[in-house]
Order: sequence, then structure tokens, then C-alpha cells
Amino acid sequence: MDLFEYQARDMFEKHGVPVLAGKTATTPAEAKAAAEEIGAKSGGVTVVKAQVKTGGRGKAGGVKVAKSADEAEQLAGEILGMDIKGHTVGTVMIAQGAKIAEEYYFSILLDRANRSYLAMSSKEGGMDIEQLAVERPEALAKIEIDPNVGIDDAKATEIATASGFDEETGAKVIPVLQKLWEVYRDEDATLVEVNPLVKTEDGEIIALDGKVTLDENADFRHEDHEALEDKSATDPLEAKAKEKGLNYVKLDGQVGIIGNGAGLVMSTLDVVAYAGEQYGVKPANFLDIGGGANAQVMADGLDVILNDEQVKSVFVNVFGGITACDEVANGIKGALEILGDEATKPLVVRLDGNNVEEGRRILDELDHPLVTQVDTMDGAAAKAAELAANK
Ligand SMILES: Nc1ncnc2c1ncn2[C@@H]1O[C@H](COP(=O)(O)OP(=O)(O)OP(=O)(O)O)[C@@H](O)[C@H]1O
Ligand SMILES: [Mg+2]
Repeated sequence: MDLFEYQARDMFEKHGVPVLAGKTATTPAEAKAAAEEIGAKSGGVTVVKAQVKTGGRGKAGGVKVAKSADEAEQLAGEILGMDIKGHTVGTVMIAQGAKIAEEYYFSILLDRANRSYLAMSSKEGGMDIEQLAVERPEALAKIEIDPNVGIDDAKATEIATASGFDEETGAKVIPVLQKLWEVYRDEDATLVEVNPLVKTEDGEIIALDGKVTLDENADFRHEDHEALEDKSATDPLEAKAKEKGLNYVKLDGQVGIIGNGAGLVMSTLDVVAYAGEQYGVKPANFLDIGGGANAQVMADGLDVILNDEQVKSVFVNVFGGITACDEVANGIKGALEILGDEATKPLVVRLDGNNVEEGRRILDELDHPLVTQVDTMDGAAAKAAELAANK
């Protein structure tokens, strides 16, 4: 999960990383009030910053200096609602203005290829770090971090030296790098990036911008991370599926897919994509109902898929293993009973594997007007695509 800058700022503050005062606003009036409060610490100067989860905000005009609260109000009016690389700005952060002497770059990230962490650091930070990395890679120090050791005094010194900091600046930067390491470790992050890390005219080191990505696999040990989730950005169908404990990903297509086992569902997507080519239809989702294909799970899955307005037909592709086909067939039967009139789209069902005859018999006997059985995966995919196209 990626955090907004203001969330990263708050997290930094919690761990003792030096940051400037900041406050969010969703209207120009709120921005003005925030600027009056925060600007008092910096001679009335604040910076209005678009809060979007993408880089390059400054270059897109989403980061602007305001010399007064009135100007902050006016700039917030311009920045709120702005589109930055497909992200609409709904919130701005009013940050205290800094008198910047130098801008540096620092990040810690998960280095999967080397099964390790990597710190990247440069004396030349600011907005063009990507360009720097390509044009003068030697100006960007890359230092491996042993996860079991982290950034101890020796490692921090190594980073500061490799970045080319003079001794005086290095001595000030080192404790900040160590605090940023604590954020990375204690919050189970996979990325902590500060660009720019600045030295002010008074010689203070401050994290002016922050990007943090948290490892969702570690959510179980961070109760407070749930509150950081941006609920407004989650697709409503995905949110509903998550609530019901389903592995669902919404895609842009017309054929709803339900299967058991991630591998089978992935190949079902391929087969439907192929069969759908001639009709111009595509898979509408990924949904793996796993091992427990009982009536309730099947009903929950169908309920999510049928509520996708784009969906015109549904392909239920189940290979009976531990859960035998007759249980799955009864699951489908039960799901159709639970859904009643809400089930309105044709279902193509392909059953195979453990107890397949009995499963097929149950569905034959049900003789439901919406259900078509097809014995092969390719045949069922073709039928589901055809039904989606003719709707
Ligand atoms: N509080 C501040 N006071 C003074 N200058 C600031 C402040 N915040 C940002 N700036 C200036 O604006 C520049 C861009 O800001 P920032 O790094 O937050 O956005 P960005 O780099 O464009 O966004 P992103 O990191 O998403 O690409 C900084 O490099 C810095 O020079
Ligand atoms: Mg930045």
C-alpha cells in the first residue's frame, strides 16, 4: 500500500524524523485557515502541495509556494481538482515553507533480486533524480543493507561517505538516515523515499517530501495501518469481495469468471480472452473461490460478479478435487436459490474432476433457464463469450 505524502510525513514525525509542520485541506477555505496557522512559523510562507499517489507533482504544477494565507487559498483553488497523471487532486497539504540551502536524495527499498535491502543516496536530490540516475549514475550511491543489521552507525557512515557529504553535513545527515531506517523496519515498509531531504539555511536536515510503501503482508502486526487505506480509491466491487473474503480483481470486460484455484482461474482468463477475440469481449474479473466452493461462497462470488454492470455472461469453471463436483453443483443450485431474481445473466458451467457425473446430473436435474453446461473448458469459454456478445 502506497501512502500519501501527508501520511508519510506523520509517520516520519512519529519516528522522530525531522519534518515541517503540515496540515491537509480539501477546500480553499480550509487551506486558508491552515496557512494562517502554519505560516505563522515561517513568516507567512507556506507551500501548497497536491496529495496524489504519483510522482512528478511539482513539475505538473501541483506544488506551489504561497507568500500569504490569501495566496494559499487561491493556489489551493487551482490545485484542488487538478489532474496529475490520471489522479484527481482531492486534498492538498499546506506545509510550512523551508529556506532550502541544499537538496539531497535518500531511499531504502526492498531489493528482491538480491534478497536484501538497498539504500540509495545522493547529494544531488530534488525533482530530477530519475534523470540523474540515468545520466550520472555515479552521483547516486547504492549501498546494500543487511536486513539483520540495518543502518547501524557503521552503515550510516558508509552511506554518507559514498554520497560525498563533507564531514559536518554527514554528521547531521547520519542520525536522520538512521531514523528513516527505523521507519522502514518498524513499519514493515518496502519503500521509504525522501526527495528532497534538505539542508536549510540554518543547517538543519529536514525530510521535505516522503514516499512510503507498506508491506500489506505484515498488516496483521500493524493495527494502525488499516486507517491509512484510501477507501475512496478502492473499486466498490473489490471492496465488497474483500469484505466477503473473496480473491477478486476487477478487470475491464464482459465475461464474469469464477473458478477454484488461482492457476485454473488464470488459465480460464486466457481461454476466455482467446475465445472472446472474435466477438470483441474480454474477461470481466479474476475470482478464485478456492477450495470451499459451497453454496454460500458460490452465492457471494456470483453476487459480486452479477453486480458488475459490464458483465453479460458468467463462466463457472470448476475442477473438483477435495471439493467434489456434486458439492459444487449443489453450491451453484443453492447460490441461485439465495440470489433468486437477482440472478439475471446466463451462466455457463464446466465441471470436471472428482465426482463429475453426479455434479452434472444435479445441474441437469435443476434445469435452470440461466444455466448451460458445457463439458470442455474451451467449449465453455466459447459459449460464454458468445452469450456475452449476443446480450
Ligand atoms: N515545505 C517546503 N518548503 C520549501 N520548498 C519546498 C517545500 N516542499 C517542497 N518544496 C520544493 O518543491 C520541490 C518539489 O516538492 P516535492 O518534492 O514535495 O514534490 P515532487 O518531487 O514534485 O513530487 P514527487 O516527489 O511526487 O515527484 C522540492 O524539491 C522543493 O524544492
Ligand atoms: Mg519529491
